[in-house]
Amino acid sequence: MQIIKVNTSTEYEVHIGKGLLCRAGEKIRALFPNSKVMLVSDDIVFSLYGEKTLASLTASGLECSHFVFKNGEERKRLSTVEDLLESLADGHFTRSDIIVALGGGVVGDMAGFAASVFCRGIKYVQIPTTLLAAVDSSVGGKTAVDLSRGKNLCGAFWQPSLVLCDTDTLATLKDLDVQNGLSEMLKYGVICNKELFEKVKNYKENDMAALIARCVEIKRDIVSGDEFDRGNRMLLNLGHTIGHAVEAASNFAVTHGHGVAIGLAIVARAAEKMGMAKAGMANEICHALSALSLPTSTSFDTDTLAALTLSDKKSSGDSISLIVPLDIGNTVIHKVKRTEVKNFIEVGR
Ligand code: GLY
Repeated sequence: MQIIKVNTSTEYEVHIGKGLLCRAGEKIRALFPNSKVMLVSDDIVFSLYGEKTLASLTASGLECSHFVFKNGEERKRLSTVEDLLESLADGHFTRSDIIVALGGGVVGDMAGFAASVFCRGIKYVQIPTTLLAAVDSSVGGKTAVDLSRGKNLCGAFWQPSLVLCDTDTLATLKDLDVQNGLSEMLKYGVICNKELFEKVKNYKENDMAALIARCVEIKRDIVSGDEFDRGNRMLLNLGHTIGHAVEAASNFAVTHGHGVAIGLAIVARAAEKMGMAKAGMANEICHALSALSLPTSTSFDTDTLAALTLSDKKSSGDSISLIVPLDIGNTVIHKVKRTEVKNFIEVGR
């Protein structure tokens, strides 16, 4: 097992390894010996891992309740959070009690957001069960729910107190879920680590725990320097700004990882064609994406993508920050005038 320490406003550890669900009780009890636990999960994850996790929590002497909602992004809404908050209140939870989020990004983002507002803030633990949640959303304290106008528009920065990534849970992921995680992992390599890029491109099942740990270390380093997303943390959005536009244009039929892959390919091609990036870089990135069965283009037209890109919440004033690779392992924040976004996308498609 590997332990990564995160130094943010709340200091916490990320534990990565096999068999951690069975040790969840022992590890959580060590931090919160007298707390009640609300285990939050969706119906699919709960049917796979809920009983095992509850058994571990109760065996260690923790008093547990659980809140299970229907799987799906459409449930990541204030109405579900309200139901969870009412359950916490009905169970007489207080500020000294905790939430444990068991699942992928939807579960973690929503349970974390509920933790940030219940009694003006209680502690929570992340137990990610998807690759995407393991390498991205469970670490760094971005919590949120969706509004009708867009994803993650209502949220808070609220760091977890512990992250337990049991790599055994990855065995039940569908191919598409693995691809979604690999897309984010390749992103870390493009941002700042060419060696990781190569390793993700050629990954073997046995390397997965070490690769997850490397991605978490990179995220830890970036988030520790910019917890509230005012500077370098924006680098983590590589592929996301245009990727979100592709997801939204498809009414979310295109998954997050696939959107990020397409967004990454577009910014890489545009950066190279505009003379900002090293020659051959875009081809290398697209080749790696294809090797991982990830898409590198979209049929949505440039006007649609530009309009959706400009409605991104990262847009401010007359410019938008696009994250642009100059070479594999070297990525920068590049401000683009709103009027130039359409051309940037057109050049990169
Ligand atoms: N997922 C990007 C971030 O945590 O900043």
